[in-house]
Amino acid sequence: MKFDFTREHLMVRQAIKEFVDNEISPISADIDKTQRFPREIFEKLGKFGFCAIGFPKEYDGAEGDEISKTIVLEEIAKKSGSISAILSVHYLPVNLIFKFGTEAQRKKYLPKMVRGQWLGAFALTEPNAGSDASNVQTTAVLYEDEYILNGTKCFITNGGEADVYVILAMTDKSKGTRGMSAFLVEKDTPGFTIGKIEDKMGIRASSTAELILENVKIPKENLLGKIGEGFKIAMVGLDGGRIGISAQSLGIAEGAMEETIKYLKERAQFGKPLIKFQGLQWYLAEMEAKIDASRLLVYKVSYLKDSGKPFTKEAAVAKLFASETAMFVTHKAVQLHGGYGFMTDYPLERMMRDAKITEIYEGTSEVMKIVIASQIIK
Ligand code: CAA
Repeated sequence: MKFDFTREHLMVRQAIKEFVDNEISPISADIDKTQRFPREIFEKLGKFGFCAIGFPKEYDGAEGDEISKTIVLEEIAKKSGSISAILSVHYLPVNLIFKFGTEAQRKKYLPKMVRGQWLGAFALTEPNAGSDASNVQTTAVLYEDEYILNGTKCFITNGGEADVYVILAMTDKSKGTRGMSAFLVEKDTPGFTIGKIEDKMGIRASSTAELILENVKIPKENLLGKIGEGFKIAMVGLDGGRIGISAQSLGIAEGAMEETIKYLKERAQFGKPLIKFQGLQWYLAEMEAKIDASRLLVYKVSYLKDSGKPFTKEAAVAKLFASETAMFVTHKAVQLHGGYGFMTDYPLERMMRDAKITEIYEGTSEVMKIVIASQIIK
């Protein structure tokens, strides 16, 4: 068993660290305050090849593996939970088009998406289909050469900013989960509009929107995968997406830890730096133990995906543990910063707000337990 990163992984980490220092750190507090979607950063991530990792050269991909993607999302999340979310959710439809798309779909969408020209989104959730993803009410009806989509999606990450959406809709309600199908819908399609843009507690520079589909006509070639395969496609997408969210969680926790150690060394009370107080060191030790365990889980599941082995359970375990660790660590980090932790001049309160969503999106902690339990008792 090897725990070392390869030379390529180290190079990816070095490159993304430099990108984060130069492009992301200077704006991360401001974009959170103003809730500005940093499109220019997504485009630059594309130009520098970070959206292309894991995809073959024939679609303008950069080759590479899931471990490298995890490194990228982890490093970005140390400084910006929002940008890590934007990229993680972009990877989801790109992965699905690569895995389930026809050659024509791959050729049409992948090069633009991996170059950072087109942003992707994944639209499963609806007002009555959250954790119960099978309860999708959006419909898609085939009429001659087109599918006609009707329905409303909510809480869609990258919604309103994305250029292409993977949308889940029922093609035959009588078949339950086997009656759901996946479709590719482009942003300017007539009848496809953006509703409410959410005002959120955290990841405020990412966009979360309602999508409204009113007689949206798309060519029948925009069916992704086979008819009735949509639920499975969504679950496969979420299995991969959960690795991304666990990487994001890990990065947020590590970022909070770095800030906290720096602060405890600088800040003196009762005549000595706070770092010298054993009671506070014990907090740091607890935080570090959980971060270390998260790191092992996150990289183990990335490795399993790269090896072509099943990883549904491991993705749920990694997401459950890493997201709860992110919440634990950022909560303690705010406490260790005292009053300064509560102030927006310091990044800790933002990190704590950003951490919260990792326990909720792409499946809540409770859904992760359903997935884990179903895998170990089957
Ligand atoms: N891979 C492949 N197939 C899978 C699968 C997986 N991981 N999980 C389930 N399936 C298949 C099952 O094998 C079954 O297939 P058959 O019909 O052939 O038997 C079928 O799907 C139905 O499976 P279940 O009976 O287990 O389905 P369920 O209705 O009980 O749901 C659930 C299970 C795990 C709770 C699921 O509904 C779920 O994951 N819910 C959470 C949804 C979620 O994460 N939402 C977040 C949306 S995205 C987001 O947050 C933000 C964003 O913008 C990206």
